[in-house]
Order: sequence, then structure tokens, then C-alpha cells
Amino acid sequence: MSALTVRDLTKKFGPVEVLKGIDLEIGTGEFIVLVGPSGCGKSTLLNIIAGLERQSSGMIEIGGRVVNDVAPKDRDIAMVFQSYALYPSMTVRQNITFGMECRHEPKSKQDAAVADVARLLQIERLLGRKPSQLSGGQRQRVAIGRALVRNPLLFLFDEPLSNLDAKLRVEMRMEIKRLHQRIGATIVYVTHDQIEAMTMATRIAVMHRGQVQQFADPDTVYRYPANLFVARFMGSPPMNTMRARLEAGNGGPVAVIGAGRPDEVRIHLQRYDAAASFVDREVVFGIRPECIAESSRMFTGAAPIIVSAPVEMVEPTGAETIVLLRLGGEAAMARITPDLRPTPGACADFALDTRRICLFDPETERLIT
Ligand SMILES: Nc1ncnc2c1ncn2[C@@H]1O[C@H](COP(=O)(O)OP(=O)(O)O)[C@@H](O)[C@H]1O
Ligand SMILES: [Mg+2]
Repeated sequence: MSALTVRDLTKKFGPVEVLKGIDLEIGTGEFIVLVGPSGCGKSTLLNIIAGLERQSSGMIEIGGRVVNDVAPKDRDIAMVFQSYALYPSMTVRQNITFGMECRHEPKSKQDAAVADVARLLQIERLLGRKPSQLSGGQRQRVAIGRALVRNPLLFLFDEPLSNLDAKLRVEMRMEIKRLHQRIGATIVYVTHDQIEAMTMATRIAVMHRGQVQQFADPDTVYRYPANLFVARFMGSPPMNTMRARLEAGNGGPVAVIGAGRPDEVRIHLQRYDAAASFVDREVVFGIRPECIAESSRMFTGAAPIIVSAPVEMVEPTGAETIVLLRLGGEAAMARITPDLRPTPGACADFALDTRRICLFDPETERLIT
């Protein structure tokens, strides 16, 4: 069954259209991440799903029921915000049971529910404390606990980890993912952080300017970005994109970067049938930084192309080293092992994994498939 369906949804604030025809179909138990840059409409979409904001047009269905005109409290959803929104004068226990208290649910049921979520979130020892006596991570856990006791059809999270420091964010990210695996809830999770999207989602909806650019599983979004926006937004460093010309070659098209320059780079495309229709035309050539490696590294199952390229900058991060280099005059980043330290200003040999190349139509910016 579909847990959530959003159809042709639009939202205008005055004359400004911030959502331009959103379509989403989400199955029970999915963990959907809405990701995109600040201002692209993520919170507006989530608020409309929650009923906190009214759509301008379109349809929303939760658990098979159209909820266009249903009040937030009757939509069977629970929402967790970035700001936690805990009641400061109440204890953790009271914060968690507040909704049940309002619905006059029996004390025994409340106690059982609190015991359950407290164990799940490991906040048993904190139940008597006030929010001011908790760390940021503990507060966020309580906010999640408050959502969990409701056992709703749908959980909505709006950037719940944004206020936490980097280390805690990584921990909570894993915790929320583990929680999802254990309780199998349906989650719609908003973030501007593409790493959160990649690591947590069963499917990612990448948003930009009020539209869903791509809605697919993380691997597909990463390997086959639907357009240049997605290619450059997902991944850190993002996919390298550079202008190239396609020429006919033996056994398939050849992408030429910096055509006519003494340092032009010629790359024979393997198994890229769709490229044939772009021969003798300009394309945007895309390759992920991890698909450019030190020449000694073998990409298993591939015949890598070795190119000599000038190195401009070397940025060691510890686990890996990012190298800024030039291919046919165009800037590109490579992700290489930290054992190697190419010298800035000198040339070094790099291997390109030609199976992982993406070509984009420069006019439509769409992936050539
Ligand atoms: N209540 C509002 N009135 C007018 N404009 C708004 C309102 N809420 C959001 N916006 C605008 O709508 C756009 C999308 O906002 P939002 O959904 O908060 O983006 P995101 O959550 O992706 O950062 C932004 O340009 C924002 O300024
Ligand atoms: Mg937002």
C-alpha cells in the first residue's frame, strides 16, 4: 500500500511559486529523504504534508486517505523539527506523554509507551530531567521519542540534526537509521546534507527550485544523476563536469576534452550506446573524483585510460587525498590514496575509470541515456 501520495502539488506565496508540481509515491516502510539546497521548498513541502501549510493546488493522500482538508492532528503523522520544540517546564517523561495525556489515554498505557521508547532511544536515565538539563543530542532523542510514542502512519523529520555538532550528527544519523530498521516506520526526512541523504535513504528525492529533479535509490542518484544539477549537488567533492566534443572512433565514440590543444585528452567510451547520437557535437563530460585515481591503481574489470595531467593543488584529508588537476585544460578533482603525494606544479599519471562516465546534453542539461 502507498503510505503517502503527493500528486501535482503546487504552492504559491503571493505571486511566487515555491512548489511547481510535485509528484511522489511512497511505500509503507520506506525512508525517503528530501534533499536540496536551502530555499528549494523542502520545508514547505513537509509542512503541507503535515497540514501546517495549505497547498495552492494538488492532492495529498496518507495511508490511502485524501487529507487535503484534514487538520494536522487528524492526519496520523508525527513531526520532528530541527528546533526540538520541547516544553521547557516539563520533564522528559511529560514531554513524551503530553500528546497521550491530551487524549486522556490511561496511565498504564502511557507508562508502557514511555518505557518502550526510552529503552529504544536509551534515555531511561533522563526521564526525570528538564530539557535544560540535557545535551543537544539528548534533546533531539527526546523529540524523536515524543514522535515514536504516537506510532503514526508517517514520520516527518525536518533537518533534525542540523543543530548538532559534526560528530554527534554522524552518531544520530546511524541511530535514526537503526531505529528505522528496527521499527520499519515510514519516514519522510528533510535535509540539505547530501551525505545524510546518501547514508539514510531507501530513496532520495533531490529538489531544486521547487521541483523534484530525481527520485530514485541512492546508488542510482549517485551513478546516474538525471541532470547536471543532481550531478553537482550529490557527492563531495561533486562530480567533475567539463566541456567535451564527441568524435567517431573505432569501437565507439571518443570524448575529446580540450580538443585541438596540445594537451587534449581523448577518452574512448565503453558501453555508452546512447553517446552515438551526439557524435560531432558538444557534450558535458562528467566523471566522479573517485573514478580518477593514481595510475598504479587498477579499476577491477576495467581498461582504464592513463593520462598525464598537471597537478595544481593537493589536499590531504587523512583517509584520502584530494588532488586538483587539469584535463585538457579543464579543472578536475581526483580522490587518491593518502600514500601518494603528487607534487603541485608537476605532471603525474592518473587512471580514469571509463565505465563510470556520464555525458550530459549541454542544452537540456539532462543525462544522455
Ligand atoms: N510563509 C512564507 N511566506 C513567503 N515565502 C515563504 C514562506 N515560507 C517559505 N517561503 C519561501 O519559499 C521558499 C522555500 O522555502 P522553504 O520551504 O523553507 O525551503 P527549504 O526548507 O528547502 O530551505 C523560499 O524562497 C522561502 O523564502
Ligand atoms: Mg527548511
